[in-house]
Amino acid sequence: MINKLAIENVSKSFGNVAVLHDVSFVVRGGEFLSVLGPSGCGKTTLLRILIGLETPDSGKIFKDDADITTLPASMRKMGMVFQNYALFENMTALRNVEYALLKSSALKNSYNRATAREKAEEMLEIVGLEKFFDSKPSQLSGGQQQRVAIARTLALNPDIILFDEPMSALDVDMRLSLRAEIKELAKKFRTTMIYITHDQEEAFAMSDRIAIMNAGKIHQIDTPHNIIESPADEFVENFVIKNINIKINSLIHFQRKS
Ligand SMILES: Nc1ncnc2c1ncn2[C@@H]1O[C@H](COP(=O)(O)OP(=O)(O)OP(=O)(O)O)[C@@H](O)[C@H]1O
Ligand SMILES: [Mg+2]
Repeated sequence: MINKLAIENVSKSFGNVAVLHDVSFVVRGGEFLSVLGPSGCGKTTLLRILIGLETPDSGKIFKDDADITTLPASMRKMGMVFQNYALFENMTALRNVEYALLKSSALKNSYNRATAREKAEEMLEIVGLEKFFDSKPSQLSGGQQQRVAIARTLALNPDIILFDEPMSALDVDMRLSLRAEIKELAKKFRTTMIYITHDQEEAFAMSDRIAIMNAGKIHQIDTPHNIIESPADEFVENFVIKNINIKINSLIHFQRKS
């Protein structure tokens, strides 16, 4: 397990649009950290910089004590789970995972066809897909496809997994069960997880700590409890606390009616 991932003074612009302004925070080894903020605030850009798909204009990223700011994505030992699953449509669930194991440059050919198959089966079993080895993505539900993507990412044994709104295409029931499963996987594999969402409830239900972001800046990073008890500023109060209160109130209203 890593000790920490440190983001130090990262800024990024596209053309003359400044997207990230001097972002600094530390992710602790083994923690589940959410980055919560409204659409367009720079969450995906931040994640792409962390994983190495984008370089910052200034600032640095350290994994433990190593400066990884310009290290290629394939050498960072980080995995990513996307909103749209990003599976190969022409491959079965099993083949999607097996293929990733065989092609990963980070694993340096440590798998052959037989051991890759065995590992892929084991990972799909862990996410509850033992009956779906031979299904193609189009034959699976959104939640099942996302489980394949999670199995594929975990199989590569990353130090850190980054999730970019992995549940936004799923219905409420599926979200609730995947929430719990992802938390269990985090515990079981002791993987550090960074989870992007614009869903306040999701962030508060899942996270050890939450980084609240708006317009390219981190406004507060703390435990759900501390954020609710003492929001750092007006933005945090409005975006998080009022929203959560509105949700709780409408839930109470709904339950009274029914
Ligand atoms: N490659 C790019 N070129 C130009 N502008 C970009 C690029 N990528 C992102 N942007 C801009 O940067 C800003 C932040 O985008 P980003 O995708 O990081 O936001 P986000 O917080 O992930 O939003 P959402 O919740 O909608 O996914 C947006 O204004 C977007 O248009
Ligand atoms: Mg995004």
